[in-house]
Amino acid sequence: MTARLSPEDLSFVPVDQAEGVACQAFEVVRQSPMYNDAYDRLERWLTEGVGLGAHKSLRIRTTVALLGGEIVGYIATHAHEIHPDRLDRARFERPFSALKVLHLATNRPYQGRGVGEILLLAFGIGSAALLTRTTGCRFVFLDALKPAVGFYERLAFEIVPTGKPNAIWAPMIFDLKKAGSATLDSYREIAGQLLTT
Ligand SMILES: CC(C)(COP(=O)(O)OP(=O)(O)OC[C@H]1O[C@@H](n2cnc3c(N)ncnc32)[C@H](O)[C@@H]1OP(=O)(O)O)[C@@H](O)C(=O)NCCC(=O)NCCS
Repeated sequence: MTARLSPEDLSFVPVDQAEGVACQAFEVVRQSPMYNDAYDRLERWLTEGVGLGAHKSLRIRTTVALLGGEIVGYIATHAHEIHPDRLDRARFERPFSALKVLHLATNRPYQGRGVGEILLLAFGIGSAALLTRTTGCRFVFLDALKPAVGFYERLAFEIVPTGKPNAIWAPMIFDLKKAGSATLDSYREIAGQLLTT
């Protein structure tokens, strides 16, 4: 079995600081033909410079994880507002501020070695936890591909019921209020250590 990677093994840089590297192949695993368009979108984000353009216009931040000279994973996030129609209306009556994880992927040969979890903890939940110190941010929100739902559930994300069981995406939220201050402090620490310019 290949060893798990730790944050110290990797470097984390904004995608515009890895322009040449970002053009190299990036391949996520295709688990079923049903999901192929979604996986293609994840690959194009890096290999066709889509993420780079969005990053340079400050619309969506993409951070890549590098191992040596190779991109092993990336995460793309942006500021977001969740409306009650995407939440449990019984619990949430008004829009809530959130950080949205638009894309998260680990390059195929490196999957299962801890890269996705490090990226999500530091640049997803950890960034949101840091944001709460300067502005409102109640949730981390994302649309998970169904095969990835278990990955997010391990980290306390919950599925938001939509009444659309056949959709290929499942909306999921991480509630910072539920997480508690000790947990948020630990995620802030990871983010503080890994956040780059
Ligand atoms: C989903 C994905 C981002 C996870 O990243 P990764 O680097 O492979 O995952 P990690 O190695 O950090 O996994 C951390 C833990 O979650 C578990 N895990 C990983 N993927 C899982 C899944 N799909 N379901 C349940 N558990 C999963 C791992 O076994 C590991 O558990 P362990 O700590 O007990 O060993 C990655 O597999 C991927 O890029 N998949 C294809 C694209 C995709 O689906 N992206 C998400 C779109 S929303």
